[in-house]
Amino acid sequence: MSVEKTLHKIQNALDQDLKAVTSAKEVELLRVKYLGKKGSIQGLMSLLRTCTPEERPQIGKLINELKVKTTTLLDEKEQKLGALELNEQLKGEVEDVTLPGRRRNQGRRHISLETLDEALDILMGMGFSVQYGPDIESDYYNFEALNFAKDHPARDMQDTFYISGDTLLRTHTSNIQVRVMEGTKPPIRIVGPGNCYRNEDITPRSHVQFLQIEVLYVDKNVTFADLMATLKEFYTKFFSKEMKLRYRPSYFPFVEPGMEVDINCISCGGEGCILCKNSGWLEVCGAGMVHPEVLKSGGVDPEEYTGYAFGMGPDRLTLLRHGIPDIRLVLEDNLRFLQQF
Ligand code: PHE
Repeated sequence: MSVEKTLHKIQNALDQDLKAVTSAKEVELLRVKYLGKKGSIQGLMSLLRTCTPEERPQIGKLINELKVKTTTLLDEKEQKLGALELNEQLKGEVEDVTLPGRRRNQGRRHISLETLDEALDILMGMGFSVQYGPDIESDYYNFEALNFAKDHPARDMQDTFYISGDTLLRTHTSNIQVRVMEGTKPPIRIVGPGNCYRNEDITPRSHVQFLQIEVLYVDKNVTFADLMATLKEFYTKFFSKEMKLRYRPSYFPFVEPGMEVDINCISCGGEGCILCKNSGWLEVCGAGMVHPEVLKSGGVDPEEYTGYAFGMGPDRLTLLRHGIPDIRLVLEDNLRFLQQF
């Protein structure tokens, strides 16, 4: 058979095949059949070798033309069928734009940390800078350097979580006091926030883990009046209204004199209600003048310097502010509860 005839035959077969295909996928199969390595057009190349050198350029040209034409026809067919298929597919896939969207849960700050941040902001505005102490602490910084007697009940296993021998989970943020004094020459004006741990019964008012904020000011001529003024300013700023404070003498080994501080009840203003158990007052922090022994532990000369310290639990402020009756609701990561705020 002459080469021309073979070319014709291939061309006719292609025309038939193109008429019969119904999908883009089938067109792909035709592409392999005609243009692939073992395809019929590629097969023509071996014919070329049987031609005389004179015939060769002419035949070569014809084969090439067929190749180009075949490619074009296949491309056109594929495009046409592809477009039809896509149309069909889209017809079947109707989007229901009335379906409700998927809700994305947005994270938010825990109310406990919100209170903490706000308290820190106020204290920083009053000139205190933030310092951190370790949660895992030695008996020395948590008790000994703070003038706790060897047999003080707080040192008991019943009250404190010991990790081993002398290592414990700090029971208060006061552990930062001597650490800071050791590393800084007065004036010292710091606020130390952090978690504290006590081996206590879990009740609506107490938990084994809670936040505290420690404030320490050491300088020449720091007085009790400075302490009272600072406390009043802090609580007035925090609750955005003039607060009345009440000071009750109390004992902490690391301050002298020491006291517990109450604010007038934020719910009834002092008349008496459930929140303040009809007393008109709410206890909010422990405070006092830094004990000379503690100054000495920190390498500060008590003849030259004095200081005050106070420690408060911002979790209690969170409860008061939001009217939450049980501290467990705040500390025990109940999302359904926390998401309300
Ligand atoms: N550390 C004391 C407590 O946890 C609070 C306190 C701090 C008291 C500083 C006086 C001075 O109860």
